[in-house]
Amino acid sequence: MEWVREFYSVTGAWWARADARVTERDASRVEALRSHGGPGVRRVLELGAGYGATAVATARAGYAVTAVELSDRADHAAGLATGLGAGSLTFHKEDFYAVRLDGRFDAVTYWNGFGIGADADQRRLLHRIADHWLAPAGVALIDVFNPFVWAGWDGDEEHLLPDPEAGYDHELYERTRFDPVTCAATDTWRSAAEPGREVSQTLRCYTPADLALLLAGTGLELADVVVDGRSIGPPGAPAAPSTVTRELLHQHHEYLAVLRHAPA
Ligand SMILES: C[S@@+](CC[C@H](N)C(=O)[O-])C[C@H]1O[C@@H](n2cnc3c(N)ncnc32)[C@H](O)[C@@H]1O
Repeated sequence: MEWVREFYSVTGAWWARADARVTERDASRVEALRSHGGPGVRRVLELGAGYGATAVATARAGYAVTAVELSDRADHAAGLATGLGAGSLTFHKEDFYAVRLDGRFDAVTYWNGFGIGADADQRRLLHRIADHWLAPAGVALIDVFNPFVWAGWDGDEEHLLPDPEAGYDHELYERTRFDPVTCAATDTWRSAAEPGREVSQTLRCYTPADLALLLAGTGLELADVVVDGRSIGPPGAPAAPSTVTRELLHQHHEYLAVLRHAPA
């Protein structure tokens, strides 16, 4: 997983002027935390926090947030962290497989990042959440990449022109591939200014049923699946409305997995 720091640092520098800010997306994540975590949540651990925008929105909502981010995107967090009021934010520029943190958290979040590396890596992370970080009655909220939609993007190529008014200063090329054997998407980027240099991210995608299998033995279980804000329950729950399952098949590139400690 050597590529992780480089990919997110390089692309982070391209997009920071546009994306290193708190937006409606962060507000809707805080709302999901409120709704699935309930009123007992105070301490929140955010993994793979990127520029820190969601961590800042969460702290502004009054939570005590600890955030972990490996890449140079982390360097933007301090500048964003204003107006925290009763909340707080502690930011670690570290690898979440290595970082040591004090105490347990009422909620652990990983927005738009789960799936880097092999299944064994995801299981190692899930074990860390269960064994070290998540409080007994806590909730973990994890965005999971949806293979059905990523598979539909296989072969797509995009040429993105700069849009300086929106903060996008670079002319970029993107290529998406999906491997049906490993169920992983590879997303490759190149800047027109550096034609010889490509950076790629590879993301393992999981259906809800496959995620439930991945979780077995980690100490966590899949309590709910949320598609664009609507709960459909875990695999095995009464059939979800067909409007939502069709959207999961064709529309949303990720869904929110709500995880809790599995019964002993
Ligand atoms: C797709 S980005 C999403 C960032 C942010 N959560 C958001 O939604 O804007 C995934 C982030 O996870 C971070 N990340 C991946 N592996 C990590 C690790 N082992 N330790 C800490 N951060 C990691 C990456 O550097 C990247 O910033």
